[in-house]
Amino acid sequence: MPPSLLLLSLILILPFSAASSLPLHLSQTTHLRRPQSAPAPPQQYIEVARPLPFDSLTPSCILPLLSHTFSTPTTNATYSSPTNCSWSNAVLHFSAASNGSHRGRIAAVWLSSAELARTSTPEPTPEGTFWNFRKDVTRYASLLRSSNLTLSVALHSLVGQVSNDTYNANVTFLYYDVNKTDHAVTAPLTLIRHEQSSEYLEMNENPADLIVPISAPGDQGHWFKIEKESDSVSRKFQIPSNTYRAVIEIYVSSHDRDEFWYSNPPDYYLEINNLPSKRGHGSYREVAVKLNDNLVGAVIPFPVIYGGGINPLFWQPLVSIGAFYFPSYEVELTPYLGIMLEKENSLHSLGLEVADALPYWLIDANLHLWLDSNGDRVSAGPIEYSDPRIRLERESKFHELDGKFKVEGETKREVSGWVNSSAGNFTTHVYGKVEFQSKLMLKHGGKKVRVKQEVKVVDEVHVRSNLGHSVAEVARERRYPLQVRATVMPGSENETYWIAAELEHSFKEEKKGSGGLRSELENRQKCRGWMFVRDCQILSGAAATSQSYYAKDGYGCYARHVLADGGAVKNDTHSFVCAPTASS
Ligand SMILES: *[C@@H]1O[C@H](CO)[C@@H](O)[C@H](O)[C@H]1NC(C)=O
Ligand SMILES: *[C@@H]1O[C@H](CO)[C@@H](O)[C@H](O)[C@H]1NC(C)=O
Ligand SMILES: *[C@@H]1O[C@H](CO)[C@@H](O)[C@H](O)[C@H]1NC(C)=O
Ligand SMILES: *[C@@H]1O[C@H](CO)[C@@H](O)[C@H](O)[C@H]1NC(C)=O
Ligand SMILES: *[C@@H]1O[C@H](CO)[C@@H](O)[C@H](O)[C@H]1NC(C)=O
Ligand SMILES: *[C@@H]1O[C@H](CO)[C@@H](O)[C@H](O)[C@H]1NC(C)=O
Ligand SMILES: *[C@@H]1O[C@H](CO)[C@@H](O)[C@H](O)[C@H]1NC(C)=O
Ligand SMILES: *[C@@H]1O[C@H](CO)[C@@H](O)[C@H](O)[C@H]1NC(C)=O
Ligand SMILES: *[C@@H]1O[C@H](CO)[C@@H](O)[C@H](O)[C@H]1NC(C)=O
Ligand SMILES: *[C@@H]1O[C@H](CO)[C@@H](O)[C@H](O)[C@H]1NC(C)=O
Ligand SMILES: *[C@@H]1O[C@H](CO)[C@@H](O)[C@H](O)[C@H]1NC(C)=O
Repeated sequence: MPPSLLLLSLILILPFSAASSLPLHLSQTTHLRRPQSAPAPPQQYIEVARPLPFDSLTPSCILPLLSHTFSTPTTNATYSSPTNCSWSNAVLHFSAASNGSHRGRIAAVWLSSAELARTSTPEPTPEGTFWNFRKDVTRYASLLRSSNLTLSVALHSLVGQVSNDTYNANVTFLYYDVNKTDHAVTAPLTLIRHEQSSEYLEMNENPADLIVPISAPGDQGHWFKIEKESDSVSRKFQIPSNTYRAVIEIYVSSHDRDEFWYSNPPDYYLEINNLPSKRGHGSYREVAVKLNDNLVGAVIPFPVIYGGGINPLFWQPLVSIGAFYFPSYEVELTPYLGIMLEKENSLHSLGLEVADALPYWLIDANLHLWLDSNGDRVSAGPIEYSDPRIRLERESKFHELDGKFKVEGETKREVSGWVNSSAGNFTTHVYGKVEFQSKLMLKHGGKKVRVKQEVKVVDEVHVRSNLGHSVAEVARERRYPLQVRATVMPGSENETYWIAAELEHSFKEEKKGSGGLRSELENRQKCRGWMFVRDCQILSGAAATSQSYYAKDGYGCYARHVLADGGAVKNDTHSFVCAPTASS
């Protein structure tokens, strides 16, 4: 049998339950039988998101680039920037349909090996499935304005081989000319003032001038596969001598044994209890970024739950936060420009690792670079550096299958460096703080499971002139709390189980900066349901998911509340006017 992509509750509980003679593997041919009340075909899946600010405008041009029915894991097309088209913002429209039964896929789109978007596939239904999303890809403008690039799409199977499924995917780019005046008002730029003249050098919200992909060559997609902590994937690169700012953007997803890493117990718990499960290594994972083998940053990934996760009925038709729009993570590397610019024409390397990784992770990154348009050379050097390695405390108490496992950690990093460009000699100071806390509790012989995780990440970037004046600053805080509770009870028939589960999680982000930059986002889901299961097939079940989404920034405000119950949307309200307290 193929490796399994199981329902979380099964993964969590079956290995812990005394009656663990149960099948731990899910056959790829099993169909998810949905409750009788399920809606008619084909199932359209939705990730609640905010409409893009320029959705109401007519695109200056539309470029349908790819329409493909997958028979191999990847497909390519040639991209050329549309001619005779004036645009300031670009959107990637991805739509896909499947009429197969294969569950668990992940897909991504790359342009010239730089990842633009990552998405997971929703659960198959007998009637077929359909989903689509629009993503603002303006930050990749330097690539989108080029021609003769390879656009590639990979559809990677998470569960064994695919037989007779059909996946059809379309990729279209839309280009908008957002009125410059409006743009300036609504998308505040953080400006750096030239010290001598009064010229302005734009920073922050402006797309990079150059993007260097840190990705794999790619006949299976341009992501690197990481199977263990010591797997370090890296790419050699060189940057132009007039680079004045550098940011690395990371895309990452966890699969198989680490799909539910936040609920993995320590290895010795599995060993002492003689459990066959290989989902161990504790419940902390961290993606580390290394420049020439030195640690320069680390991020904790937001736990995206795939369509079959925890209780598949939770995600019909509202998919989990991030399931269609995987978030990416940024690390400001400007203070390290002194190293990256050292010795002209010499190669440096950027590497990625996952702490405590189990098979497997798909990961790659884009190095965004801003160039000094008034000079062909900048000089740069370091000022201060502190090791960003997180220090963790782990605590375990258990007796047989019941126990409590805690992981807690906090790290602070501070780094600064100067860059002398045509705009002046500026010092970039980066301050970062990560707080992590996770608890896993098992009761009643492992039949009752509770997971609680809190992550808080703060990043601040301050740019100062030699005279000590603040020329730009931006602060960002992300939080992603997660709570899962699940209980399993044997059914009256042989090999049947009742599983009740609850989940509450959110993605919160707040940004503040000079030039009036201020934005808030809070996306929260609460799910509750039960299912009656035999051989990893859902015989019956019911679930409800409520989601509230709140976003506020220079473009305005958007609030939406959606309630799905029994596989259908029951309530869906939104507003473009938010009450001051709407975020509560
Ligand atoms: C470019 O667009 C303008 C306005 O739509 C049109 O008048 C012109 O002929 C176009 N030029 C080319 C080369 O297509
Ligand atoms: C993709 O485009 C083709 C042709 O334009 C269309 O027939 C098909 O329905 C589209 N598929 C999806 C999933 O949007
Ligand atoms: C699924 O797609 C294939 C290929 O497009 C088609 O031949 C088949 O009839 C479809 N099946 C259903 C049930 O729509
Ligand atoms: C595009 O690239 C191909 C091969 O990479 C080359 O043969 C072709 O001349 C290029 N076309 C343009 C317009 O640059
Ligand atoms: C392939 O398609 C056939 C006919 O629709 C179906 O009976 C069979 O179960 C499918 N196989 C798999 C592995 O889904
Ligand atoms: C852009 O906005 C300004 C001021 O609101 C207006 O005068 C101008 O006509 C607009 N331009 C376009 C192309 O819409
Ligand atoms: C797509 O391009 C990549 C290289 O960019 C190559 O490795 C891969 O085999 C290509 N895929 C197909 C289906 O041609
Ligand atoms: C700083 O950069 C400017 C412009 O690139 C250059 O003219 C100047 O000499 C540099 N200053 C020093 C001290 O290197
Ligand atoms: C830029 O400023 C930093 C800190 O004030 C200083 O150490 C460095 O030598 C300066 N660089 C240049 C080229 O003036
Ligand atoms: C129940 O399960 C046991 C062990 O798997 C098996 O020996 C027995 O035949 C099953 N009974 C029925 C009625 O299916
Ligand atoms: C659904 O929305 C209506 C108003 O549109 C509201 O009165 C009702 O309480 C909502 N129901 C739930 C369960 O949220």
